[in-house]
Amino acid sequence: MDTQNVNVTVVGLQWGDEGKGKVVDALSGVCKYVVRFCGGANAGHTVHVGGEKYALHLIPCGILRPEVLNVIGNGVVFDPTIAWQEIEHLRQRGVSVGPGNLLISAAAQVVMPWHKIEDTGSEGSLGEGKIGTTARGIGPCYADKARRSTAIRVADLLNEAELGEKIRRIADIKNRTFAALYSSEPMDVEAIVQEFCDYGRKLAGMVANTGARLRRAIAVREPILFEGGQGSLLDVDHGTYPFVTSSSVTACGVPAGAGVPPSAVGRVVGLVKAYTTRVGAGPMPTEQDNASGCRIRERGHEYGTTTGRPRRCGWFDAFAVKYAADLSGANELALALLDVLSGFDELKICTGYRVAGEAVMDFDATALQGVECVYETLPGWKQEISDARRFEDLPIEAREYVQAVEGLIGRPVGFIGVGADREATIVHNTQVRGFKE
Ligand code: IMP
Repeated sequence: MDTQNVNVTVVGLQWGDEGKGKVVDALSGVCKYVVRFCGGANAGHTVHVGGEKYALHLIPCGILRPEVLNVIGNGVVFDPTIAWQEIEHLRQRGVSVGPGNLLISAAAQVVMPWHKIEDTGSEGSLGEGKIGTTARGIGPCYADKARRSTAIRVADLLNEAELGEKIRRIADIKNRTFAALYSSEPMDVEAIVQEFCDYGRKLAGMVANTGARLRRAIAVREPILFEGGQGSLLDVDHGTYPFVTSSSVTACGVPAGAGVPPSAVGRVVGLVKAYTTRVGAGPMPTEQDNASGCRIRERGHEYGTTTGRPRRCGWFDAFAVKYAADLSGANELALALLDVLSGFDELKICTGYRVAGEAVMDFDATALQGVECVYETLPGWKQEISDARRFEDLPIEAREYVQAVEGLIGRPVGFIGVGADREATIVHNTQVRGFKE
């Protein structure tokens, strides 16, 4: 069945933090389901509604719309500790969360306390060569998923008799490994058994066969929004390995991570910032470790939602974004945080790379060391643009900047973000159902 005009997939086309929360929140207004399919609590999606700010890590952003059913898919590494904190926090703020609006895949992997110990221990032992992870246990949890014998899935939380045995067996292996590798003190295994049996009881009503539920929704053309985490250049296969996360975060990851056919991906909205940021180590060809980078960081409040770390900042890299857009088959772009660029005399966009004076033909995530950026320079604009609601309201230089992005990526810009609030969005050249004029 053709779902091109029913479903929407939102994926980041840079190194994450492209402002997915805001776009997913806007687009979830025309969807019945919002589904996370990759990553875990390493994500930090921020939504501003009516002057209130919500920072979500694991719970899909559709939770702020009462009519939306939110799904944590099988491809997610599910951290019950963080999920429960988020659920309680949302409830305290008057957002109801329960089986009526949140389902968790029984097949999702569970992030256990040992995954966080291993994440921190492994990073510590790598010294200068560390990845710069979020320390949320993401990589070790996906590693155990692949190993199988040391994995715990959400379904296991519901089987108390066997869960205790499983935790004791795996914790024994981890305790011995960590003592040898990191000289760690042993974990209190019985406390972990109690804690995770307790999560099983609290979450039981929300655990479901989410793939089946989504495939039924697809059969009757109920609209689904797939909410990407991280960004394409952090993808475990296609990103700047090893400085990546451990899951498939492009639109290619949707079918496996949600349990739906590839045809269900629908219209792909590739989300980009009007500039580039990166947290953690690894190549970033357009990085500006100078006054321009600092200015972007301060104006854009570029500090991690999950870890508070200052983000590395630089110019928009059209060469890298084109690669990511092609990989996900992006149909259109959402350009976030254009307002951050107000006040620059001139702006640069990277249009390609050179190595030893030779133009690079294709973006190659395995060969970014020592590339030299080729820049196009555009005039900046002085005025603040956060009140603009129509494309025509933008200064000519900002409009030209948007058009340059469209030309270089070869896709229309459907939405333009000019401020944090839900309303601070210009609906531009979109074809998303319910938004196109
Ligand atoms: P991990 O996912 O915690 O293993 O971290 C691996 C790399 O991905 C590090 O460079 C992190 O900073 C980065 N990363 C993971 N999640 C996000 C995200 O949601 N936004 C931006 N960077 C992320």
